[in-house]
Amino acid sequence: MRAWLFLAASCAYAAGLALGVRVWPVSTASFVVWACGGMLLAALAARSAPILFEGGVPVVAWLLLGGASYPHQAISELPLAAMVLAVAAFETRSRVASALLLPLAAAWLVAASGAQVFDPGWYGWATLAAAAVQLALVSRDGSRAPWGPPKIVDLVVCSYSGNTAHCARAFGEGMKRAGADVRLHRFHYYPDFDEPLDGDALALAFPVVGWKPPWTMVAWMLWRMPRGRGRPAFILYTCAGGPENTSLAAWLLLILRGWRPVGRAWSIYPINVVTFRLGPRALWRFLDRLFPIGYDLRATEDFGSRFARGLPSGQPHLVWALPLFLIGFLVDNKLVNTYPYRNRAWRRRCDACGICVRYCPVGRLTIRDGFPRAKGTCTLCFGCVNLCPKRSMQLVAWTEYGNAYKPRFPDLVVKRRERSDLSDRSDPSDVLPISLPNPSCPILRP
Ligand SMILES: Cc1cc2nc3c(=O)[nH]c(=O)nc-3n(C[C@H](O)[C@H](O)[C@H](O)COP(=O)(O)O)c2cc1C
Ligand code: SF4
Ligand code: SF4
Repeated sequence: MRAWLFLAASCAYAAGLALGVRVWPVSTASFVVWACGGMLLAALAARSAPILFEGGVPVVAWLLLGGASYPHQAISELPLAAMVLAVAAFETRSRVASALLLPLAAAWLVAASGAQVFDPGWYGWATLAAAAVQLALVSRDGSRAPWGPPKIVDLVVCSYSGNTAHCARAFGEGMKRAGADVRLHRFHYYPDFDEPLDGDALALAFPVVGWKPPWTMVAWMLWRMPRGRGRPAFILYTCAGGPENTSLAAWLLLILRGWRPVGRAWSIYPINVVTFRLGPRALWRFLDRLFPIGYDLRATEDFGSRFARGLPSGQPHLVWALPLFLIGFLVDNKLVNTYPYRNRAWRRRCDACGICVRYCPVGRLTIRDGFPRAKGTCTLCFGCVNLCPKRSMQLVAWTEYGNAYKPRFPDLVVKRRERSDLSDRSDPSDVLPISLPNPSCPILRP
């Protein structure tokens, strides 16, 4: 009933927006008011705080394109109408409501465009395509046949500073509450990750790195991930508030491997990019404490429980006409990352404790001549910089001036690599003694 009320409110919102675009001259203020209204409506319908952030994307794109002077107002406001309608229809879980999404959006565009000459330009075409993909994705999700409650769920967790592990824990506990047997797999040491994933369903958790999953996870999904054979999969990710089309990228990769993505959810966590952490540490400590939002964590747990009971759950896919994730693939991949990012340990501070070496997910670091040295590619996880107890490690070109992100959930950070991987020197006495916390990294409480 509640969902249907939101659908009615969303239709009224879309009608008002179409009328607004046609009748009154568009100004920045009016656009921002409509956008805020749409974001609030969508967030309330989905009971999801992150949607408030996601809904801001069309506003940014619109402002970048010239705002009120952009000639194709109806098309630039289509993403707002499409988002509100898609979220509300998704929440009803009704095939009919979902099936009506595309014709409804087309009618909205005709009504809002009025007598405008249909010459949308490249951005307009991109917007149309993105809105169509979003509505098609939601229609498909909503009309899917339910899957049987999975007995065993493989929970694959990629998490560098512990944020995603924290979010995955909430999801995992929801699944356990629903009676599923959850098998945890930490995706960290990328070259070694080779799990059979033979459970009945999959939950995949990762941090957003450059508007997409980390390249190590993309590479694993493309080449080494076991085939899904139609089994259901849930996409879970954390980021600092700007995921854009990450879920679309993960969705496509899962489809390519034969999985059946049945839901996605994301949460806002503190940013772990050192470069952006300029300014006083007290400010960052304060900002870090704001996230994750408790409400959001409870929603994540609930999503886990619904997923494990074979019920539709999560937030609908939102797709934007921003090609940021494509740029992410170009600037952050195995080949490119071999060159621009250079590790430097400040010799006067480094005591060769080896924490960075043990942590590095791609085995890029080794201790040589008493100091960590880098060879090969990097995943930009920032672990070596963030976890260095002496604030000695730098990732040149990125981290010279930033504050390190000291993990909010240190128990959930992977901390150990086998001692034999630590050094390429043969004399064991050259390797300083290392004492690190228990590496088992429990995510799910017993
Ligand atoms: C290299 C790098 C790129 C990132 N790119 C994004 C991004 O595009 N959008 C975003 O919102 N957050 C981005 N983040 C922030 C992380 O997604 C966020 O802090 C996440 O919660 C980290 O999770 P983890 O602790 O599980 O690794 C980036 C972080 C790193 C290190
Ligand atoms: S963690 Fe820091 S102090 Fe320890 S070896 Fe690495 S750079 Fe040196
Ligand atoms: S060198 Fe540092 S940032 Fe790069 S993958 Fe290794 S630990 Fe992560």
